[in-house]
Amino acid sequence: MSSSLFDRAKEIIPSGVNSPVRFYEPYPFFALYGKGSKIITIEHDTLIDYCLGYGAVILGHAYLDVISAVKAQLDKGNIFCVPTESELKLAELLIEMIPNMEMVRLMNTGSEATMHSIRLARAFTKKKKIVKVDGCYHGAYDYVLVNPGSSASSSSYDGNLEESMKQTLLLPYNDIASVEELVKRDNDIACIIIEPVLANMGLVIPEEDYLNKLRRISEREEILLIFDEVVTGFRLSLGGASEYFGVVPDLMTLAKSIANGFPLSAIVGKKKIMELFSPKGSVFQGSTYAGNPISVTAGVATIEKLRDVKSELYPKLSRISDTLTGGIIDHMKDLKFKSSINKISSMFQLYFTDEQIKNASAVKKSNQILYKKLFNELLKSGIFIPPSQYETCFISYSHDDEDIDKTIEAFAIAFRKVKDIEN
Ligand SMILES: Cc1ncc(COP(=O)(O)O)c(C=O)c1O
Repeated sequence: MSSSLFDRAKEIIPSGVNSPVRFYEPYPFFALYGKGSKIITIEHDTLIDYCLGYGAVILGHAYLDVISAVKAQLDKGNIFCVPTESELKLAELLIEMIPNMEMVRLMNTGSEATMHSIRLARAFTKKKKIVKVDGCYHGAYDYVLVNPGSSASSSSYDGNLEESMKQTLLLPYNDIASVEELVKRDNDIACIIIEPVLANMGLVIPEEDYLNKLRRISEREEILLIFDEVVTGFRLSLGGASEYFGVVPDLMTLAKSIANGFPLSAIVGKKKIMELFSPKGSVFQGSTYAGNPISVTAGVATIEKLRDVKSELYPKLSRISDTLTGGIIDHMKDLKFKSSINKISSMFQLYFTDEQIKNASAVKKSNQILYKKLFNELLKSGIFIPPSQYETCFISYSHDDEDIDKTIEAFAIAFRKVKDIEN
């Protein structure tokens, strides 16, 4: 059972989990297996999953096309550390799917991709500082752990180098005036790295023209613009948020949906920048597992599937998401909660505040005690949303109308319980 497994885990795994967001009081449930839109717990309870590996599982758990391709590759070997044709095929698919990008380097995690993209930007511009946005999360290393979102926002950063963190300048999201002010003040900025849709503070949507203006300023100031599309890549469209909003960054990082949850990330970008990567270029990047045949096979199978069903997939995700969020909003209104909800395509998050959520500081003012109560009540009714207010809810291609009806019903019950503690 989850409670006894967790008792064992906390003795030998720090805090009992391998990533902080996975812990919640009193203990997290343990997963037995996943199928489609559901996770089956060790207790054999079925949960409809809106966490989906924090956005990674766009097609659904154990998705047949991906799993059968991976099984076939397993029989042929899982790592060679020499080039394979599948890597080339994946790179070609990425260039075909993502407009205006010219070269690809494959890696394993989102953290690696953002770290190396920042390094590229410093080498290309010969400038040192980076600008990041309050509440954006780019991974688990010193100079992006400056006002990060996600579970990292409530952590402390003992062990980080202060000297390194000082090279990171902060901006509030959705605030162009502060960008102008910052670039006037500082001429040593190599890049602005941003989640084009902020998915690590719940969900915050860019205001009209925000990303366009950011592009114009960065171009004018010879600062590289990096879109961290670890979450939004393939989720908002095949070309990610860049294609969705029609704004072309210099570099883009991809990870989660690229391989339906297998560990694979990529930097895609303009040739003149990407060519700086070693061994021919001067920017070192290397990894034993980069381009391993298992992840690459999963990546090719996932992207081919997304490409084949895209005219059905994205409208379906939006329709289901509209129905679900519409149902949630109706129940919140009925019970007169101070609440707001942000949504785009298959991503949404709700907040217990009546303030419109446009940036990280607004999120921090929402009532997170009520969110935690909602999480716990939904879990009792078989619905798994992220345990933290700072994460986003996702919908997969495998979710169906029955899942959505059950979920709306569960929200109705959970909201009544939340109301009891609000009063
Ligand atoms: C936008 C964004 N960038 C980077 C990362 C880091 O990715 P990883 O956890 O694979 O290192 C995350 C992880 O959630 C993310 O959401």
